[in-house]
Amino acid sequence: MSGSRTSWFTHDRFGMVIHWGLYAIPARGEWVRSMEKISVEDYQKYFDEFNPDSYDPKEWARIAKDAGMKYAVMTSKHHDGFCLFDSKLTNYKSTATKCGRDLVREYLDAFRGAGLKAGLYYSVIDWHHPDYPHYGDNFHPMRDNEAFKDAKHDFENYLDYMHGQVRELCTDYGKLDLLFFDFSYGKMSGEKWRGTELMKMVYDLQPGIVVNNRLEASGDQYGSIVSNNPSPYAGDFVTPEQIIPPNGIRRPNGEPVLWESCLTMNNNWGFSQFDKCFYPPEVIIRKLVEIVSKGGNMLLNVGPDARGRIPEESVKLLQTVGKWMRGNGASIYGCGGSGRAKPDFGRLTAKGEKFLYLHVTEQTICPVYIQGIKPADVKKVRLLSTGAELSTENTWVTAGYPDYLFIRLDEHGRPSYSLPDPMCTVIEIELK
Ligand code: GLC
Repeated sequence: MSGSRTSWFTHDRFGMVIHWGLYAIPARGEWVRSMEKISVEDYQKYFDEFNPDSYDPKEWARIAKDAGMKYAVMTSKHHDGFCLFDSKLTNYKSTATKCGRDLVREYLDAFRGAGLKAGLYYSVIDWHHPDYPHYGDNFHPMRDNEAFKDAKHDFENYLDYMHGQVRELCTDYGKLDLLFFDFSYGKMSGEKWRGTELMKMVYDLQPGIVVNNRLEASGDQYGSIVSNNPSPYAGDFVTPEQIIPPNGIRRPNGEPVLWESCLTMNNNWGFSQFDKCFYPPEVIIRKLVEIVSKGGNMLLNVGPDARGRIPEESVKLLQTVGKWMRGNGASIYGCGGSGRAKPDFGRLTAKGEKFLYLHVTEQTICPVYIQGIKPADVKKVRLLSTGAELSTENTWVTAGYPDYLFIRLDEHGRPSYSLPDPMCTVIEIELK
């Protein structure tokens, strides 16, 4: 049943996505071939050069685990068609470069070994394959190159190749926890990919796998998963990109739908040497809280460089996030929306019926409060990161608000204007 198959996904809430490949060498993001209309021939030098001497997926797994991430997804093939795995269907692969390594296999072994769930990203788009549409396509690097105007493409042959590679990944690499297809656009969607056949194969070969919605969608629309009649390739979760759905995601009948916001730390998925516009850690922490408060997951991106190293800015950011998660992860893992109104100064997450987590991100001049809870309903209140008891006694200023639970974040008698954790202070409320 889908619910049990996806229960780990809903519990874990926080994952890493890794965008890595030849595009790390030009270091201008993973769309460089399309954006700069680079021919296969002109891009070949990166294949000839690719040799990430510092690739250490065990280090990557340690970074992810220390950040409090519970699962990861790595590109097995991105839109440029370069395979980071030893596909028998092409020589355009990492094992045929100087590197000579099956990067996917090493990644899966390392992340599984660290106790994380491990999945793969696979691009159904392929700008390297001769039978993928070129001229007139929305994004292909040769989309307006007249030399390709009359080129003939046997798209069924490409689909056989693409299906064959997905079969390889689902057969030769052990139990995959997640498959992130990317992405559908215009008529390139659904049955154009032979989606029913492809998704059936994936679920047959990997019965426990969780799959996204991008055989019929992308980051800007949901696909039929949000309808009352999902297609066979609707997938298990929606993938809002660089956005947090304002009210979560539900079907017309109000039934919640699994969703995962995929976000970059700077402005690029793939490594970009000069994009130093990284979020500060408190933004990531507060957005993770917001996402969980709305019932979603966060998939946070890292783009390793051409030598196989996760950028220092990302490592530092994840270290700070991890420190916060070590103190407050209980308010994220296994949590979701509370069904209550958003509090004035932060957000609420809930774990079952007994635990509420008040995430305070704004300073207060009075005790913080939750509407609809009376002190008599409460078993105990603690500062989550230290376990310290917090007082819920009312003062004369709160007497007029009997329908609120007031919690003091101050030394008795002296309101403290600075929060215990200015990034995000978490209060655990256990109900009777
Ligand atoms: C978009 C981008 C792609 C990236 C993906 C991540 O589809 O085009 O490069 O891999 O988002 O969700």
